[in-house]
Amino acid sequence: MSSPLAHHRKFLAEFRRNFHTTGAILPSGRYLARALTRQLADLPAPRRILEAGPGTGPVTAELLRQLGPEDRVDLVEWNPAFVELLQERFARDPRFVPHAARCRVIHERVEALDGGGQYDLIVSGLPLNNFAVPVVAEILQAFRRLLRPGGRLSFFEYAAIRRAKALVSGSEQRARLQGVARELDGFLAATAARRELVWRNVPPAWVHHVLLPGGA
Ligand SMILES: C[S@@+](CC[C@H](N)C(=O)[O-])C[C@H]1O[C@@H](n2cnc3c(N)ncnc32)[C@H](O)[C@@H]1O
Repeated sequence: MSSPLAHHRKFLAEFRRNFHTTGAILPSGRYLARALTRQLADLPAPRRILEAGPGTGPVTAELLRQLGPEDRVDLVEWNPAFVELLQERFARDPRFVPHAARCRVIHERVEALDGGGQYDLIVSGLPLNNFAVPVVAEILQAFRRLLRPGGRLSFFEYAAIRRAKALVSGSEQRARLQGVARELDGFLAATAARRELVWRNVPPAWVHHVLLPGGA
């Protein structure tokens, strides 16, 4: 299952089955994948990279394209259907196979990963605006824990998504979205962060590029 059309079908099927965690009806496009992986070029090799929520792997493919021989990538994905698809890509897809020995697919929630300070870069596709406030807080805490001091994080949210959701939601959902916004704003304020608008994606998205304090 290695054609883009097959990946789109799989993604849509998982959106129907697991709307809450999938969070989108289409995989990220090429321009969003490039923006999400932009910080890789700022980091000296060898680099340890974590991709959270790779789904069908459009951002993974872009990461692999830029990978150096000593770099290592962990892919942490919660949905078993996507885990299986990614494993198949590492076994058969010509863009993935040459990198298989340097990559691990981990079937887990990112917030449950062990350890601390082991990654230079985290690239996240998690749909944070779909989650409960304590879950968002736990995920942001996990990102901080898993990154080394001075490590980088890039994640995205669809442009105006919170406002759009709030317009069609009841008061409970609006309160949740305000709570998520507070968590994200607090996290971004405590780091050096800049954002980049990617128009050429369906839908357009903001990419947040974060630099944790404490680097050399
Ligand atoms: C919006 S999709 C993004 C997929 C892919 N990165 C892309 O850009 O097309 C979100 C992905 O995050 C996964 N996911 C959701 N919650 C997760 C969690 N707590 N830990 C790991 N993966 C998670 C979903 O199963 C899904 O694959």
